[in-house]
Amino acid sequence: MIPLFRPSISIDEINAVTEVLKSGWWGLGPKTAEFEEKFAKYVGVQHAVALNSGTAALHLALALLDLKRGDEVIVPPITFVSTAHAVLYNGAKPVFADVYEDNLCIDVEDVAKKITKRTRAIMPVHYAGHPCNMDGLREVIKGKRIVIIEDAAHACGAEYKGKKVGSLSELTCFSFHAVKNVACGEGGMVTTNSGEWDKVLREMRWLGISKSTWNRTVDEKVYAWFYHVNRLGFKAHLNDILAAIGIVQLGRVEDLNKRRREIVGRYNQAFKSIKGVKVPVERKGCKSSWHIYHLKVEKRDDLIKFLKDNDVTPGVHYYPIHLHPYYRPLRAKLPVAEEVWKRIISLPLFPSMTEEEIGKVIGAVGNFFARPPVIDEFKLLGKKVRLRSIEANDLELLREWRNRKDIQQAFFHQEPITMEQQQDWYNRYLKDDTDMMFVIEDVKIHIPIGSIAIYHIDHNNKQCEIGRIMIGNKKYLGKGYAHEATMLLLDRAFKDLGLNRIYLEVFNHNSRGITLYESCGFATEGIKREAVMVSSKRYDVRVMSILKKEFGADSK
Ligand SMILES: Cc1ncc(COP(=O)(O)O)c(C=O)c1O
Repeated sequence: MIPLFRPSISIDEINAVTEVLKSGWWGLGPKTAEFEEKFAKYVGVQHAVALNSGTAALHLALALLDLKRGDEVIVPPITFVSTAHAVLYNGAKPVFADVYEDNLCIDVEDVAKKITKRTRAIMPVHYAGHPCNMDGLREVIKGKRIVIIEDAAHACGAEYKGKKVGSLSELTCFSFHAVKNVACGEGGMVTTNSGEWDKVLREMRWLGISKSTWNRTVDEKVYAWFYHVNRLGFKAHLNDILAAIGIVQLGRVEDLNKRRREIVGRYNQAFKSIKGVKVPVERKGCKSSWHIYHLKVEKRDDLIKFLKDNDVTPGVHYYPIHLHPYYRPLRAKLPVAEEVWKRIISLPLFPSMTEEEIGKVIGAVGNFFARPPVIDEFKLLGKKVRLRSIEANDLELLREWRNRKDIQQAFFHQEPITMEQQQDWYNRYLKDDTDMMFVIEDVKIHIPIGSIAIYHIDHNNKQCEIGRIMIGNKKYLGKGYAHEATMLLLDRAFKDLGLNRIYLEVFNHNSRGITLYESCGFATEGIKREAVMVSSKRYDVRVMSILKKEFGADSK
């Protein structure tokens, strides 16, 4: 199974961790300081404060604003829940603004509409690594006491108009969770140019204590044991084991992101011309860090199932936060997010993907869209019956019915069907796209009543055959169940599969069957004289058919 994400590890991360483990200082110490210094330099800011998660970074960055009850923070809905949770941790109210359909980043015009007197901050999320419209946001808050705190959990290495994300706003929050572009297992960072905020963040991440244990140990002689608690802080700092991984990862991030970009190029090339698929965009002036690769497709859930069946792990980023039960009281109407999440699917993307893995993902997606259309089962619902696809555990009951004398008579093959024959048939059936068999069920109590199938599905000539119709449960005989099942399946075959002609073959002496088919709109095309042999006697076979245009009038 190809995973959605996989951390990219080299021998250097292993050596770096080993070094720290052997050093005897595992906690917050020199490696964390080195990571902070290198990170600040990498994004081009004066300060970087390392934390134990991206969530902690968002929580503490917002805490710098000393938010009061009723204060509002504008966030997008298509993000990980941490973005909105961080607002609630601070006792303020998340206000959701919609996203752009193309890059799923916060929509500046909607942000402008959501700003009130209580708005204290905006938290844009660089979705999938694509930078938000930062100039637009800056413009919207001009002259207002509103701070921009970026959620750059996906955006390590991303650039906006030539500047690294992390250097664009008052505060930017990163995540080093196991699958992020820079990964430590867990971890986070806040970047800022404010010396004052840097100082407060350092206290807040360490329970409000004025000096770290490392600084006390190294710098101070007599009063090394002494410190002040200045505020109610949190236990939210990074440690040196994880920082050591972070330092190596940071040194590799440009190469790792380059590889991500190459894979995205391959995907886009392969998918851009598939009908019904939208590949991700990179807007002018933006350089994505390509944390996530997402497509927008119709029948997303079918594609998810198909990929899983083909050893490819898909994902969905994200179900809109405001639709989660916990957030429903905050209510918001966000038409783009509410529509687009149903179409987004994330595909495997990680730097260590092999060519074989990339090919397999491309092949699986391609095969899904090249598949012939299928019948939408959810629509196979009538007044009395529902049809559902046959499953392995239906086989026994169907065989029992099929082998009954009264039913056997209507079939051309009149020997009892053995279990082995049936299993052989079922194995062939599972691989056969031109054959669809359904179990007829009572719509209310969902018990099997019989079967019906279409086969020899021929998309070139837009036709198929219908058959294997039986009502095996005698209680339901002669009550119109077969009629309704046939009508339902004809309707779907014409509409979902786009066929023009459906035909069947029936013994010419089977007057009961012929009456049923005529009541469904079938007309006789012709008689095949003595076409089928049963117990050394030849029987005539009637060929009947119905055309889409004839059925249309009837099915309305
Ligand atoms: C957009 C976004 N924000 C915040 C976070 C939280 O980061 P962490 O898992 O490091 O707490 C994540 C993590 O997946 C994220 O994707």
